[in-house]
Amino acid sequence: MQILGKVESGAIPHRGESLNQTFFFCHSRTQPLAICPTNLMSKRVLLTTTSFQDTPGTHQDLLNSQNWEIVRARGPLSETEMLELAGEFDIFLCGDDAITQAVIDKSLPRLQAISKYGIGLDKINVDFATEKNIPVLFTPGVNHTTVAEHTFGLLLGITKDIQSNALAVQNGEWVAGWRKPIGNEIMGKTIGILGLGRIGKEVAIRANAFGMKIIAFDPYFDDAFAEEHGVKKCCSMDEVLLGADVISLHCFLNHETENMINAEKIAEMRNGVIVLNCARGELVDTNAMAEALKSGKVGGYGADVLDAEPPAPNHVLIGAPKCIITSHIGSRTHESVQRQANRCLHNAINFLSGDADVLCANGIL
Ligand SMILES: NC(=O)c1ccc[n+]([C@@H]2O[C@H](COP(=O)([O-])OP(=O)(O)OC[C@H]3O[C@@H](n4cnc5c(N)ncnc54)[C@H](O)[C@@H]3O)[C@@H](O)[C@H]2O)c1
Repeated sequence: MQILGKVESGAIPHRGESLNQTFFFCHSRTQPLAICPTNLMSKRVLLTTTSFQDTPGTHQDLLNSQNWEIVRARGPLSETEMLELAGEFDIFLCGDDAITQAVIDKSLPRLQAISKYGIGLDKINVDFATEKNIPVLFTPGVNHTTVAEHTFGLLLGITKDIQSNALAVQNGEWVAGWRKPIGNEIMGKTIGILGLGRIGKEVAIRANAFGMKIIAFDPYFDDAFAEEHGVKKCCSMDEVLLGADVISLHCFLNHETENMINAEKIAEMRNGVIVLNCARGELVDTNAMAEALKSGKVGGYGADVLDAEPPAPNHVLIGAPKCIITSHIGSRTHESVQRQANRCLHNAINFLSGDADVLCANGIL
């Protein structure tokens, strides 16, 4: 991204008002960067997450009450885009931007902390940040209910074929008679949860409400939770794959979980299984999933995430049969965005003022 320089002043709509800001336009994004005029001695903060910026709420007031110079960009930014911006910021308030070793290196010595808006840290080189003594702050426990609700949205969308039927109706076709889709209930079916962490647990609680049987695997299995909520413990991922009608992925992405659902693992699953992925696209080998959808081995894939975001128009899963993909909106609700944004801001504010109420992922604070 190349910043072309100051182009114009203007007003950005914000909660029915306008904030006078100065725009800087960049080549690769249609949205302008906006720089708040403020005390030059104040902290300089890069804000990239779009849901934070686009959602009204108390976090906007908290952000505006800080004596910060705020540079806004429309993330998630690639490494190239981050490298063009890096170097002049005290704090990043970031989403899923590529904060690589090169980006961190270029951001030093000024960068004091990375305040991640959200939970997954897979786009941040946390090890390198730790090596350079940069705290990586994050916001666990803010969006688990929202993502769990989204998971069931995808599941019901698939089992009742809601997407294609609703689209047909919207296009003026009231699908009639024998052509009406016949769905399946989820009551009585077995859901296999891979990753019984915060989101996985919320999925289990909702699965109980739907009358589903629940099995799960997690290397750090919470036996007390499982007992309370009737979750059967599996000793391996394979045990879940063999025993589930619906498989829902809720583990984080790392070198061990990348492509954990591949052709070999899909072959172990039940015929017609439904796979849900509200975690990270890279957990699934997308070519293998596209093949399995085509052959009918997998009866439905519901995902909020893809291995490339945004995907190329010819991505194998776009338009694949029995496949519902949403554009990484699983945590985007008014309730969750405010929780995430306020926690992300409190982390940054408290860190800068030396307050210990900070959630730090890499043990520096
Ligand atoms: N779609 C979205 O908008 C959205 C929003 C929030 C989080 N997420 C994704 O969801 C993931 C989970 O979030 P969370 O808050 O539940 O995190 P969490 O850390 O509470 O839970 C993750 C769980 O996965 C388990 N795990 C690790 N490796 C595993 C493996 N090989 N097999 C099975 N389980 C394994 C961990 O032990 C942990 O209990 C995040 O890492 C993020 O990638 C997506």
